[in-house]
Amino acid sequence: MDQPASPPLLEMRQVVQRYPLPRRSLFQAPGAVQALHGVSLTVQAGRSMGIVGESGSGKSTLARLAMALEAPTAGQVLFEGRDLNALPPAELRAARRGFQMVFQDPYGSLDPRRAIWRTVAEPAAALEGASAAQQRERAAEALASVGLPASALDQYPHQFSGGQRQRIAIARALITRPRLIVADEAVSALDVSVQAQVLNLMADLQARHGITFLFISHDLAVVAHLCADVAVMQAGHIVEQGPVRQVLGQPQHPYTRELLAVATR
Ligand SMILES: Nc1ncnc2c1ncn2[C@@H]1O[C@H](COP(=O)(O)OP(=O)(O)O)[C@@H](O)[C@H]1O
Ligand SMILES: [Mg+2]
Repeated sequence: MDQPASPPLLEMRQVVQRYPLPRRSLFQAPGAVQALHGVSLTVQAGRSMGIVGESGSGKSTLARLAMALEAPTAGQVLFEGRDLNALPPAELRAARRGFQMVFQDPYGSLDPRRAIWRTVAEPAAALEGASAAQQRERAAEALASVGLPASALDQYPHQFSGGQRQRIAIARALITRPRLIVADEAVSALDVSVQAQVLNLMADLQARHGITFLFISHDLAVVAHLCADVAVMQAGHIVEQGPVRQVLGQPQHPYTRELLAVATR
């Protein structure tokens, strides 16, 4: 008999996200911005997916929905086959260990007054109620997997460079041993040489820890470096998606060709 296929790591089905705008006058109906117009995508475990597209195309909205930080106006977000927005709160909390996020600005996402070990351990403390001793030990382990020494535990964010701070943010994401990490423009603010180091770290985490990335970037070259698949977004739609080699090698949609032309100019 055939084994039942395991569900995809992440699946978005016809996801619509609409944000109400402030009412401009008493006599006009309030407007809305539609950030996503029915987006569907499938991320398989072990195949990192890049999301590319210009500013305002809906990439960060998609990221927040994938992390269940917001519920969609319509459609479904499934993590390992479970509809996140239909889960009871306790089950959603437990499911959150499976996916974590890394943001663009490592400085903004690290509390300057908190020792590194507390910041790194925070998701484990919040989701698992780990003891302080366990938290320190787990934080040291996570720091080691991003190439930082245990001496970093008792230091503070200002003592690190931008690239090191992004490693700390990645360590924090690793603390719950997630299967999926959503990285929203996570290397965009770094110098090119540091960018390459952080990308290599992510590729290494993918190979060694089996972590799959949903990797959001406006930069096609960095996506090609890390991802097996890519989805191209324009104005709240995915206009093209598929294996990186196919989409970037033989782009079918005029918008993808335009992005490529800009990138190689
Ligand atoms: N919370 C929000 N309220 C109102 N509009 C929003 C909100 N978040 C995003 N938008 C709008 O949705 C669109 C997509 O934004 P975003 O997802 O941030 O795009 P990207 O990350 O690709 O730059 C933009 O027009 C943006 O102004
Ligand atoms: Mg964004």
